[in-house]
Amino acid sequence: MAVKVLGISASPRANSNTDLLLQKALAGAECEGASVKYIRLCDLNIAPCIECNSCFKTGECATKDDYQLLMEKMLDADRLIFATPIFFMAVCSQAKVLIDRCQCLWAHKHVLKKPLITAGRDRRAMVIAVGGSKSKKMFDCVRLTMTYYFDVLDMSYSANLFVNKMEEPGQIKNHPTALKEAFRLGAELITTPSPPEKPLDIELT
Ligand SMILES: Cc1cc2nc3c(=O)[nH]c(=O)nc-3n(C[C@H](O)[C@H](O)[C@H](O)COP(=O)(O)O)c2cc1C
Repeated sequence: MAVKVLGISASPRANSNTDLLLQKALAGAECEGASVKYIRLCDLNIAPCIECNSCFKTGECATKDDYQLLMEKMLDADRLIFATPIFFMAVCSQAKVLIDRCQCLWAHKHVLKKPLITAGRDRRAMVIAVGGSKSKKMFDCVRLTMTYYFDVLDMSYSANLFVNKMEEPGQIKNHPTALKEAFRLGAELITTPSPPEKPLDIELT
């Protein structure tokens, strides 16, 4: 059976740097025989979590929108590649809305004490993030948020591809190595026999 890879693109703009990197990472995975799905959050209607806490009783989110469809895809995937621009030193709001809605998965596991994923599955995740400034501090927040998000999804946090000093749409195409690195990391998500102890970090300028 082919490894199932889900790519989630959170950038709201066309010709997005993170989206271009994501496409390359997915191409790398596909080259290694993976079956690949791609989703742009901007094409979906996902409302923010309102902390009604009904998921504490049911394990399900009471807000019904496109989240449920995406949740099924996230739970079904063997690999997740999540791409987000840096907005105000953090993931963009489109990404955060989705992550917050995963509170129902947290409740399912930690309040209702029910397993989310069949035991023994090899699930791994990778992050792609791009910022406009020269600071690299902006990736600290991404690391922390993604650690908790992937933990809720029962996925091993396997790799980061972070690029700074990219402001214009499509500018990443002029970077000497970033797209190649994305392709390589996407392929390695499939070919590496087991997830690394800690995420492999690629930070490019
Ligand atoms: C609302 C907003 C906030 C931003 N905040 C930051 C920031 O805190 N640090 C930074 O380096 N770049 C920041 N940027 C720049 C984007 O991260 C940068 O343009 C990036 O290339 C966007 O990625 P994309 O093309 O995939 O959307 C911000 C851009 C916007 C629109």
